[in-house]
Amino acid sequence: MMRRGTVADVIRSGAMSISRRSFLTGAATAGLSSGLGALAYVNTVRADTVLSRNSLAIPALMDGRAEAGQTIFDLALQAGSRQFFPGLMTPTLGINGDFLGPTVRCRAGQNVTMKVTNKLGFASTLHWHGLHVPAKADGGPHQVIASNAVWSPSFKIQQKGGLFWYHSHMMHRTGSQVNAGLAGLILVEDEESSALDLPHEYGVDDIPLVIQDRRFRDDGSFDYMTAMPDMMMGFKGDVILVNGTVSPELTLQRQRTRLRLLNGSNARIYNIARSDGRSVVQIATDGSLLERAVERRSVRLGPGERAEILVDAMPDSSFALISLPDDAGGRGPGMMGMMGAAGNDAQFTILMLRAGKLDTVKTPLPDRLVDVPSWNAAKAQRTRRFVLGMGMMGGMGMRGGMGRMGGGMMGMTINGRSMDMERIDERVPLGATEIWSISNATPLSHPFHIHDIQFRVLERDGVPAPPYERGLKDTVMVDPGETVRVITRFEDFADPSHPYMYHCHILEHEDAGMMGQFVVV
Ligand code: C2O
Ligand code: CU
Ligand code: CU
Repeated sequence: MMRRGTVADVIRSGAMSISRRSFLTGAATAGLSSGLGALAYVNTVRADTVLSRNSLAIPALMDGRAEAGQTIFDLALQAGSRQFFPGLMTPTLGINGDFLGPTVRCRAGQNVTMKVTNKLGFASTLHWHGLHVPAKADGGPHQVIASNAVWSPSFKIQQKGGLFWYHSHMMHRTGSQVNAGLAGLILVEDEESSALDLPHEYGVDDIPLVIQDRRFRDDGSFDYMTAMPDMMMGFKGDVILVNGTVSPELTLQRQRTRLRLLNGSNARIYNIARSDGRSVVQIATDGSLLERAVERRSVRLGPGERAEILVDAMPDSSFALISLPDDAGGRGPGMMGMMGAAGNDAQFTILMLRAGKLDTVKTPLPDRLVDVPSWNAAKAQRTRRFVLGMGMMGGMGMRGGMGRMGGGMMGMTINGRSMDMERIDERVPLGATEIWSISNATPLSHPFHIHDIQFRVLERDGVPAPPYERGLKDTVMVDPGETVRVITRFEDFADPSHPYMYHCHILEHEDAGMMGQFVVV
């Protein structure tokens, strides 16, 4: 694969990919002095010939501190380094730590202040993905936190219980800053969901999983955006990290475990399933529990999407959470084939699960979970159309065009336009119920994300949303050629001078301009 960079880079990366390939075929594991052995083996996940597993890290829980009727969360953006592989230090970014950040736990109705201190030495932002907050508190590209500055937005938590997350949203830098580690979880609790008989002991039977992929250089540093397809296909790594742990293993402590999944990757799509062929029970989407639990063979998550699943285990059993190859929603062959299925074509292990002695009292699932807000499509004030496009595809800019994309010649577009921070693309009246119709005119799948609100998926190409999509969502996969219609109401926060974003959550696409701005007025 052609790479940019120095000759030394090319030689080194070439050597590295060869050694990785030899691991793929199960070749010798001995004789590797550096961390390369560990590096390479992760790529063999498809063979599941695992030498050693690391115990899964659980992000620290942060409940904030009380001050004058507010709950304050102190979050420091900082640079650090982490040993992902024996003997190799990786320069990283994190929040209150070296890589990723604590799980911010809050309750519906709580008044919070996020006190974000930027100790990075360069500018960044911190966005509350999925939270319904005023635009100026949103942490998007307009709320830049300068080096050494403190940004302290206050807002009330107005959410259904669920898993949300925070991450850098720096204009043109989101991909690299998130890749380096600027992301973490937000756990919102509300009475309705807490009252259910579902596992909810954080880190015991309620386990958050931030699923990411990374590429490493042989000196241990992250290798980001050096390969030709990284911009167009989105950046994909060959090492899977869960909560920052390489080749993770979790010991199950209860018969039934709730896994809260975040696809925190820049571009990779996961099709999450059990290696033993048993099904999982999906109970939540991005922004709420489902009305009813749904049994599933696999759960597909695009970047930015979340889901919660329940897995039941027999005593003394072990199995893995794996990712099955993605077929772009069945729209893959053809263009996708030509593009190598956009690099989502492999099967690999995400997390090993081992059960010890478990007590085997099986509680039935509640058959109704929660009420999920919905809006009547017949009463929507208007439908807005969004067409996702990739500029210069006509000339098959994959080679020639790719090189220019960093320079801004290549456009990732919505309705034919690339993101411009000075341009407001849509004005939404406060209180309006609207249908947003998103069409994908490209050969790749795109996760479309809208700030400010949670929506319901109405239909995909005219077919009503399947039961597992009938929860609140803020990010939705739109496959090649597909049109997805979602509905929501824009409530509470009108502000003509501070926009919210909508964009593709493949961070390289977002950084390249597949993003637009709306104001609520
Ligand atoms: Cu997860 Cu606009 O972001
Ligand atoms: Cu967001
Ligand atoms: Cu995209």
